Amino acid sequence: MRALVIDESAEFSVSVREVTARALDPTDVLVRVEYSGVNFKDALVAQAKSRVRRQPVLVGGVDAAGVVTESTHADLPVGARVAVHGGVVGVARDGGFAEFIYASPTNVSPLPESISTRDAMVIGTAGFTAMQSVLALEDHGIAVGARVLVTGATGGVGSQSLTYLAARGYAPVASTGSLDEAPWLRARGAVDVIARAEVADKPDRVLATETWDGAIDCVGGDTLHQILRSLRYGAAVAASGLVASADLTTNVYPFITRGVALLGVDSVEVGAPTRARVWRALGEVAPSINYEDLIDHTTPLETLFEAIESVRAGHHRGRVLVDLGAN
Ligand SMILES: NC(=O)c1ccc[n+]([C@@H]2O[C@H](COP(=O)([O-])OP(=O)(O)OC[C@H]3O[C@@H](n4cnc5c(N)ncnc54)[C@H](OP(=O)(O)O)[C@@H]3O)[C@@H](O)[C@H]2O)c1
Repeated sequence: MRALVIDESAEFSVSVREVTARALDPTDVLVRVEYSGVNFKDALVAQAKSRVRRQPVLVGGVDAAGVVTESTHADLPVGARVAVHGGVVGVARDGGFAEFIYASPTNVSPLPESISTRDAMVIGTAGFTAMQSVLALEDHGIAVGARVLVTGATGGVGSQSLTYLAARGYAPVASTGSLDEAPWLRARGAVDVIARAEVADKPDRVLATETWDGAIDCVGGDTLHQILRSLRYGAAVAASGLVASADLTTNVYPFITRGVALLGVDSVEVGAPTRARVWRALGEVAPSINYEDLIDHTTPLETLFEAIESVRAGHHRGRVLVDLGAN
């Protein structure tokens, strides 16, 4: 089969090659991949001396969607349409930038009827994380109609957070470094669009004005600090990312005087009940969403590395879809 292989056994290289799909365990499920998608994490994996990749030679791709072709599991029968993501997929074992993928059943989710394999990869880990973040805020008690700040809004997690918040009755406000994308962000559901710098307020004070009923942050660093100090009493931020920085320097005042909560969102090791719940929620909103509008561009394997580089550089809006040519 053809696959995008990252090879650092000697000199670093990334190329499309013929390889053989390998099962690591007899219980692994074989999936014929129809679509994949490019995540920020794929850019971290596909670089020399990557601290994320855990194999010197690896088929990249933390996401895949397709049809089961070999399985010993009654709940994942041959012919089932599935998404593959999470765990060590595309990091320590071969990933979804290939015509076939063997995966542990814990990383294979049956797709709801309302989601095609193509739409599943427009959603991808980014959209899964976005819906997981929305559900985390809902579990915290954020009321319908709440004004929720979304950072990194033109990115994969950000743009789908806007879409799902709007679909579930919230009023999302987009924070972006690309203000010229404001019309696109409004079309995704943003009621307001602000510049990145506007997230900071009253820098000389310990706490900022109580502004947000909730927030979804995939940026981290000072942005997350600014969000914490501007959440309303009892509000929460769902934090999943670190595109700006993995460091967080803040103080305890938002927590001890405003009772705010920092909700960590992890899509990688999350258990089966949550995976099923998130895909169910994605299935519920899917009929109201045109996933084609969330695609930046579609690439075959041959131009995939260029697409990964464009995601690394932030030269994209929404999702980069990978078409494995199975249809
Ligand atoms: N916890 C998890 O399970 C999980 C799952 C998926 C993703 N993630 C993480 O979430 C983050 C976003 O992933 P993604 O796939 O959505 O990435 P992405 O598509 O590259 O989007 C990131 C967005 O952040 C903004 N941005 C980029 N550089 C920035 C900077 N230096 N300062 C402030 N904003 C910046 C840009 O949006 P604007 O131009 O609109 O500001 C960019 O489009 C990554 O850190 C990823 O590793 C975590």
